[in-house]
Amino acid sequence: MTSTEAEDPPVAETIERFAAAAAKRVAQARDLEELDALQSELTGRRSPVAGWKRSLGGLADAERRELGRLLNEALERVEALLAERRVALRREARASRLDGDRMDLTEVPPGAGPGHLHVVTQVREELEDIFVGMGYEIADGPEAESEWYNFTALNMPRDHPARSIQDSFYLATGDRETYLLRTQTSPVQVRLLERGSLPLYAVAPGRVYRRDTADARHLPVFHQIEGIAVDHGVTFGDLAGTIETFVSAIFGSATATRLRPGYFPFTEPSAEFEVTCAICGGEGCRTCSQTGWIELGGSGMIHPAVLESAGVDPEEWTGFAFGFGIDRIATMRHGIEDIRVLLENDVRFLAQL
Ligand code: DAH
Repeated sequence: MTSTEAEDPPVAETIERFAAAAAKRVAQARDLEELDALQSELTGRRSPVAGWKRSLGGLADAERRELGRLLNEALERVEALLAERRVALRREARASRLDGDRMDLTEVPPGAGPGHLHVVTQVREELEDIFVGMGYEIADGPEAESEWYNFTALNMPRDHPARSIQDSFYLATGDRETYLLRTQTSPVQVRLLERGSLPLYAVAPGRVYRRDTADARHLPVFHQIEGIAVDHGVTFGDLAGTIETFVSAIFGSATATRLRPGYFPFTEPSAEFEVTCAICGGEGCRTCSQTGWIELGGSGMIHPAVLESAGVDPEEWTGFAFGFGIDRIATMRHGIEDIRVLLENDVRFLAQL
């Protein structure tokens, strides 16, 4: 159709032929780009329909109305077909994009088995084995915990500054008691003590939550393992020996441990324990802030107020407790500089461990 023809008023047959040809071309458009070009060619300002519309001006009323109606109908049909084709092409584009991203999980080499446990689970199970070997039981507690167990019974009353260090996710339960996602595994200590069966040697691994922004060394959801030992005449020396034992079991004897005075409301005295940084071997690097040491956790002799709040007589029983990060051990063991990779589920990373 040349432009001179386009400016001549069409006959009904011309319009019909145009619409049929347009329908065929729309159906054949292979991608969205082609469809865009086609849309402007068939319905835009320079399209035959637009030219024909302009040509109607010189016609008699009745004829103009009739041809105008035919033109509008044809245009609507073409537009509807364009829209339909657009939906189909979008769906195809999306499907092929998803297809490109797909990981073929059947591509595992034959005989490779069903895969392996996540590195954090591996470390947790290893820790459990080590402590079971030392006569500890494995315990657990709820992740949605009451303020009483998570803080108050641990000698952290409402206005205690340490509460704000562990910025919490509170739960809107509507209960009289306030609930939150536990910020530490320490509440399990209280639950175990309340059972009233002593002596007690237990570890409680599990997930904990803090309102932290994820960075190379922090995750808002991470894993701790809590340990508690309550017996007659338990000493700080027993605590130090226990930490030493599990650190060398998990890292090997080349890794050194040190205890530094620290502060936790639920222990007195309290100590932070650190191991030599596995990323730099103790030389000092970004991961350990150039100190050569990485803090693994906290520990100390259980505060008498904690024993009392769980109904245990501190005159008769003494104990130690500790809590440390499992994810951090996993990163140290494998020389992982950015803890976030643990959560990214990238098979290229996971398959290496
Ligand atoms: N709950 C402490 C924290 O998350 C770690 C901790 C410190 C646990 C001292 C203990 C302890 O059992 O005695 O920071």
